Amino acid sequence: MNEPLRIGIAGLGTVGASVARLLHSKSNSLTHKCGRPITVTGVTARDRAKDRGFDMTGIEWFDTPTELAASDNIDVFVELVGGENGAAFDSIHAALENGRHVVTANKALLAKHGLELAVIAEKKGLILNYEAAVAGGIPIIKTMRESLAANEPSRVYGILNGTANYILTRMERDEISFEECLADAQRLGYAEADPTFDVEGQDTAHKLAILTSLAFGTKVAADEIYIEGISNITLADIHAARELGYRIKLLGVALRTATGIEQRVHPTMVPLGSMIGQVDSVTNAVAIEADTVGSLLLSGPGAGGNATASAVIGDIADIAKSQPGRQEAPVFGRPAHELEPYQRAEISSHAGGYFIRLTVHDRTGVFASLAGHMANNGISLASIVQHGSSKDGSTDTKTVVLVTHETTESDISNALEAVLGDGHLVSKPQVIRIEPAG
Ligand code: NAP
Ligand code: HSE
Repeated sequence: MNEPLRIGIAGLGTVGASVARLLHSKSNSLTHKCGRPITVTGVTARDRAKDRGFDMTGIEWFDTPTELAASDNIDVFVELVGGENGAAFDSIHAALENGRHVVTANKALLAKHGLELAVIAEKKGLILNYEAAVAGGIPIIKTMRESLAANEPSRVYGILNGTANYILTRMERDEISFEECLADAQRLGYAEADPTFDVEGQDTAHKLAILTSLAFGTKVAADEIYIEGISNITLADIHAARELGYRIKLLGVALRTATGIEQRVHPTMVPLGSMIGQVDSVTNAVAIEADTVGSLLLSGPGAGGNATASAVIGDIADIAKSQPGRQEAPVFGRPAHELEPYQRAEISSHAGGYFIRLTVHDRTGVFASLAGHMANNGISLASIVQHGSSKDGSTDTKTVVLVTHETTESDISNALEAVLGDGHLVSKPQVIRIEPAG
């Protein structure tokens, strides 16, 4: 029998405890698949007394992740603590410096420090695997890093946050409040330690930054992403979307354009009948459009203990099967020092269709004003729908929903500024971009 692969797990929460439990319950089949046993030799978390649902007999406890990372009794350091800096960063850095392979699910950390850590790992001939960091259980990193080597992607987009998709799905299906849906997602272990990361789009942005680098061979550029979250999406938007043949999804989109690469995260109208439009609840989906293969869509559970542990254990198994001294796939698909600088395409030049929901005073001239300003800015309307009267304080108001043909973001902004100037609007317009989707 070959030598066991010794694992140190930092973080025994939703994901870490699932990894430890599955490594134990699936040890026989993993040994057969990897040709050697995989043994947890060290763990750390904050609370030593907490029951984690697995037997810790024979497993050494460490007081800090950095002490575990420095242990000579591990071959692989598995970071499941979370956070872009602090204990997670210090311990991964220490593990690599100490010559240990690393597996992490930490997209926040990779979005900020991925390049720096990739440089260290590649220089030292170590593996830095992070399948669970993007789209939970979906094997998207391996797919993009290895299986699509014959491709130059032109667009990558997806539902990358389970919590946000769970909230949007339940708001639509069960007509319950945003807050109630979020509390359920937290209870189910989907949400980040700070759930504003889920609902305000930062978590999707962290994942998108990683996918963009893999797709286009550019340096990870998380600070260059245009971000809008879902906290201002209302049931009125969801109902209007459905009436017009769309559903609202929080998408991350990376697109190569003539002026650079667009990276954007925002609530998006996708066609009701599209495959991505039918991806519900905590399920994630990633679509890739590329020159050789055409279009791909991978979907599966994006969060939760076992789904995420499945990806973490796949990464550990790859290390168990790796041959010492053999060149492994570079961390971001090509050597870190060969990644190109990221060239940003501004959101103002984004071209696409738009959904615009307006609450207007019910009086003569409103439609003429709307139509006039749209036409003056070269915007062609695909549809215009007026909903029944509603009373807003002492004023009669109406809801008007416009859907445009392809135009630019700057034309939309200019037209709406002019509409606002005419004084017909009761509140700020709700503008949601439309994304063509298969
Ligand atoms: P979690 O349930 O909050 O668990 C975090 C663990 O880290 C806990 O065991 C905690 O200890 C430990 N910890 C926190 N700070 C520590 C420190 N300074 N020193 C030692 N231990 C520390 O988080 P999680 O949901 O498992 O997420 C872990 C990572 O996976 C994050 O990067 C997250 O973004 C990522 N991820 C999560 C999911 C998911 O569905 N949950 C999916 C994909 C990726 P105590 O238990 O003692 O408090
Ligand atoms: N909070 C994240 C989500 C976990 O809801 O998708 C998976 O990365």
